[in-house]
Amino acid sequence: MDSDWPAPPPSAVALSDELTAQLAARIDAAGGWLDFAEYMQLALYAPGLGYYSAGARNFGAAGDFVTAPEITPAFGACIARGIAPLLQPGDAILELGAGSGALAAAVLDELADCDAPAVDYQVLEVSAELRERQQLRLDAYPVRWLDTLPPSGFRGVILANEVADALPVRRFRWQPDRVQAVGVIRDGAAFAWAARDADAQLAREVEQRREAGGDEWPAGYTSEFCPNLRPWIGGLAACLERGLLLICDYGLTAREYYHPQRRDGTLLCHYRHRAHADPFRWPGLQDITAWVDFTAAAQAGVEAGLKLAGYTTQAQFLMANGVLDAALPDDPVERARHAANLRRLLLPGEMGERFKVLALSRALPDAPLNVGRDLRHRL
Ligand SMILES: C[S@@+](CC[C@H](N)C(=O)[O-])C[C@H]1O[C@@H](n2cnc3c(N)ncnc32)[C@H](O)[C@@H]1O
Repeated sequence: MDSDWPAPPPSAVALSDELTAQLAARIDAAGGWLDFAEYMQLALYAPGLGYYSAGARNFGAAGDFVTAPEITPAFGACIARGIAPLLQPGDAILELGAGSGALAAAVLDELADCDAPAVDYQVLEVSAELRERQQLRLDAYPVRWLDTLPPSGFRGVILANEVADALPVRRFRWQPDRVQAVGVIRDGAAFAWAARDADAQLAREVEQRREAGGDEWPAGYTSEFCPNLRPWIGGLAACLERGLLLICDYGLTAREYYHPQRRDGTLLCHYRHRAHADPFRWPGLQDITAWVDFTAAAQAGVEAGLKLAGYTTQAQFLMANGVLDAALPDDPVERARHAANLRRLLLPGEMGERFKVLALSRALPDAPLNVGRDLRHRL
């Protein structure tokens, strides 16, 4: 770890050492090589030890990264204004992976302000620690936590902000004569990358992506894809009887994702606001993410019977839903802070264009949501 990076406290290092031992045992049990998706799954979600399971303070200024709802409630307010017209009495909002609870609070506050019908706000959170944190933060709000997805018959809006990028990805390397799976081996007390011939399923998936990227990858081209994206969206679609699935995340169309020039993929780790590319440092103490292939996400929704209802950038979506219309704070310091927050959400070099909003609908009129400049044709 670079020397200027803040060292984790000894209690966190102890948890990371325990997770490292579990990962090493898993690699041994798998014959010395572990697919990266399995490594990522354990590093993020191993019970009691993974990044999202061990209760680290991941979000906000003292954590590892900041999400849009953590930056300002204006993000959730725009979502609420966007979805309010399509909510009917008796509808629910289901938020997946609610993080610190900031998005739920902002959405419920704004829905109350715009006199939307009362909704049943539900949260499905895979991390027991985050669920507890959400329960503390949302104590005064009418929110309930689910243990599993509703089986079917859900009416309303399903929200997933920065959840799809936390789904484990498989990593691959393309060589002119073969496709390789890039996995994890032990390297003394640490871990290292190692490539081996891909299984038939991975080779098939990679070939499809090479076509999307224009067939001109250089030898050694490395990237990733998310095997759980299609089943995850399929599961959400199966429970949605009427309403909208809104996926917000950093991501690209398949053509951009698998462009020959993006030769090392999109895998990214976050530790104390430092973004870097080494997922083997302090397992369990840093976030590991990969960008979302929104073409694959849209296709998965359509295959599951949903309608592609909108795709745009975060900046377009927020501006279409009034992010610049809110009254400015009177206090000059607050006003400057508000402006800085909006810049982070909207500027192209910040979150404005890297983050996208994908809307998939069932049994709603066409264009149920104002997404501003609609970029569906690019998918
Ligand atoms: C990067 S955080 C984003 C949190 C929050 N949505 C926000 O925007 O601040 C990812 C969240 O997704 C949760 N998560 C990851 N996989 C999930 C899944 N399959 N279903 C529900 N939640 C999940 C994590 O535990 C965490 O709360």
